Amino acid sequence: MTEASAPGKVILCGEHAVVYGKPAIALPLPDVRATAHVRAAPAGSGITLLLPDVNEQWSIAAATDHPLATLIQQTLETLLIIQPPDLTITLRSAIPIASGMGSGAALGAALVKALAAHLGAPLSPAKVARLVYESERYFHGTPSGIDNTVVSYQQAIWFVRNLGDGPHAPDDPNRSAALTPSAGVHRVSSVIEPVSIARPFTLIIGDTGVRAPTHVTVGGVRECRQREPGRYSALFDAVEQAVLRVRHGLATGDLHAVGAALTANQALLVEIGVSSPELERLVAAALAAGATGAKLSGGGGGGIMLALVPDQNTAGQPAAVAQALLDAGAVRVLHTCVG
Ligand code: PMV
Repeated sequence: MTEASAPGKVILCGEHAVVYGKPAIALPLPDVRATAHVRAAPAGSGITLLLPDVNEQWSIAAATDHPLATLIQQTLETLLIIQPPDLTITLRSAIPIASGMGSGAALGAALVKALAAHLGAPLSPAKVARLVYESERYFHGTPSGIDNTVVSYQQAIWFVRNLGDGPHAPDDPNRSAALTPSAGVHRVSSVIEPVSIARPFTLIIGDTGVRAPTHVTVGGVRECRQREPGRYSALFDAVEQAVLRVRHGLATGDLHAVGAALTANQALLVEIGVSSPELERLVAAALAAGATGAKLSGGGGGGIMLALVPDQNTAGQPAAVAQALLDAGAVRVLHTCVG
C-alpha cells in the first residue's frame, strides 16, 4: 500500500487581485491534511475510489466524467500508462470542505502523489500542481492556480499568475467554453517563489460558517471591473503594494508591518466588494482582542478570515483572539504556526 498526503492552505494576502496578474502569498496548513491510500485490487476490477468521509464508493470506469476520475485518468496519461491498473484508492480529508482551506486541491494533490508513487513514478510538485489545476478548473471556473500550487509545493509561496494570451486570461470571452476538464493543459506558467519568513507567528483562522462559492465572488469582481476598469485597476495596484509590504515584513521579521499590511489589504477587499458583515465582525473582534492584523482569506463573501498574532506576544494572546472570534460568531477556529 502507498500513502501520500497534502496540506490545506490559506491565502495570506492578494486574493482576487491575483486573478488579474498581481502577486499573492499563500501558506500551507500542515496540521490539516488530505490523505490518499492506494492498494492493489483483484485482477480485472479496475480502479475503485472510496470516499469514507462522504460515504461514497465508485468505480472510475462508471463515472468517467467525475473530476476525480478525470484526475486519475490524466495522472495515468502523464505516467504514460495506457491500461488502467487494478487499484483501490481511499481518500480522506481533515480539511473542512468548502471553507476556503483548499480541501479540493489537497484531495487532488494527495491522490495524484499516492497514485504516481504507487505506480513507481513519483511526480514533482510542479507536475502534481499542473494536474490538480485541471480538476480545480472544473470546480472553480477560472482559478488563478495559487491553491493547487501551494498544496502541491507544501511551502509558503509568492505566486504571480502569468496571464499570457491563453484560455486563462480573465477577460477571454470564451472563458466558459475553455473550462471543461478536457479543454487542454494549463499551458501558461506562473511565477512561484518561496517566501522567506524571518520570525515565526501564529495565524488564527476563523470560519464565518457562511458558504460563498469562490466562482461567485470572482464573477462578481469581474463584472464590477468591467463596469469600472479604472477604479478596479487602482484597487488591484493598491493590493499589490500591500502584498509587497507583507513580503518585506515577513523577510525582515517586522510582524507589525505585516499585520498593518494585512489589515490594509482587508480595507481594499471591502472596496473590491468581496467582504461581508460576518467577515467584518470577525476581523473587528480579532483586532480588538489584540491581533496585529486581520483580513478575510480566499474568495470572501463568507468563508474564512485570518488574524496574525506575533509569537513573542503574551502566551495567552492567541487564545484570547480565538475566543473573541468564537464570541463574534465564528463556527470554527483553527491555529497554525508559520515559520
Ligand atoms: O476561495 P479560495 O480559498 O479558493 O481562494 C480564491 C482566491 C481567489 O483569488 C479569489 C481566486 C483565485 O483563483 O485565485
